[in-house]
Amino acid sequence: MEKTNRYAFTAMSHLLHIRNTLPQLFRQGDGDIDMRMKTFATKLPETRGKTRTHPLMAWHELILLLICGVVAGASLKTTGPYTLAPLPYAENALEPYIDARTVKLHHDLHQGGAVTALNKAMEGATEYSSMTPAQLLVNLDKIPEAVRQAVKNNAGSDANHTMYWMCMGPGHGGEPSGPVADAIKAGFGGFPKFKEKFTAAALARCGSGYAWLVDDHGKLVIMTTANSDSPITEGKTPLLVVDVWEHAYYLKHQNKRADYIAGWWNLVNWDEVGRRLKVARGG
Ligand SMILES: [Fe+2]
Repeated sequence: MEKTNRYAFTAMSHLLHIRNTLPQLFRQGDGDIDMRMKTFATKLPETRGKTRTHPLMAWHELILLLICGVVAGASLKTTGPYTLAPLPYAENALEPYIDARTVKLHHDLHQGGAVTALNKAMEGATEYSSMTPAQLLVNLDKIPEAVRQAVKNNAGSDANHTMYWMCMGPGHGGEPSGPVADAIKAGFGGFPKFKEKFTAAALARCGSGYAWLVDDHGKLVIMTTANSDSPITEGKTPLLVVDVWEHAYYLKHQNKRADYIAGWWNLVNWDEVGRRLKVARGG
């Protein structure tokens, strides 16, 4: 009984830790909208401090501002509280390893479809729609049962994809350095062994899913999840992810997942992995 209580306490503390670090681990779609709206606003004509020669000038500017605001809002905001975060780079930035068409379809249709489905599912849980997708994943017990699985699937898909894009980029790849290299050496005996084990795990994932490097409270672990499941629901902090759904590679590599994984290593953004490791360890 005492052992059970200790386990429950540990699991709860792990979940609280992951909840507290979520804002630093996952980019927020709404935050991006705020950023884009601010960028848009800076492009509007500066009116502050000007001497007005005609009172209608102010009305013209106000009407222009309103029209621009409505147009910008309509183009940026989909129906519902969740929005598709933009790619952090151009669609062709991952070539030649991942082709532009795959990136576009993957981001716009697959991740975008998950966002649309999440908005639909959250119609049955509107009181929780202020939560980010990642926050939903660690609060699934609060979500009404009728929409819980749909929320889990689609919030997971959105959060996983957003992290997947962030963990890649042009001009990256190679081997990690600094604390990430040290942690990998401590956990796996060095980068070559880690790469071999991670690749094997990604290839062994049967069907659709993801392969992850996670920080499990001070210990680095390689794991995979099925479908759109996320390690954060288990209280683990994801550091690196590769999407092994066929939609991630089929256009270029058809059934050769190994070729996709081999190319993907040339894109891994170790700076992002290092940032996540620092968050996980309270740095
Ligand atoms: Fe995907």
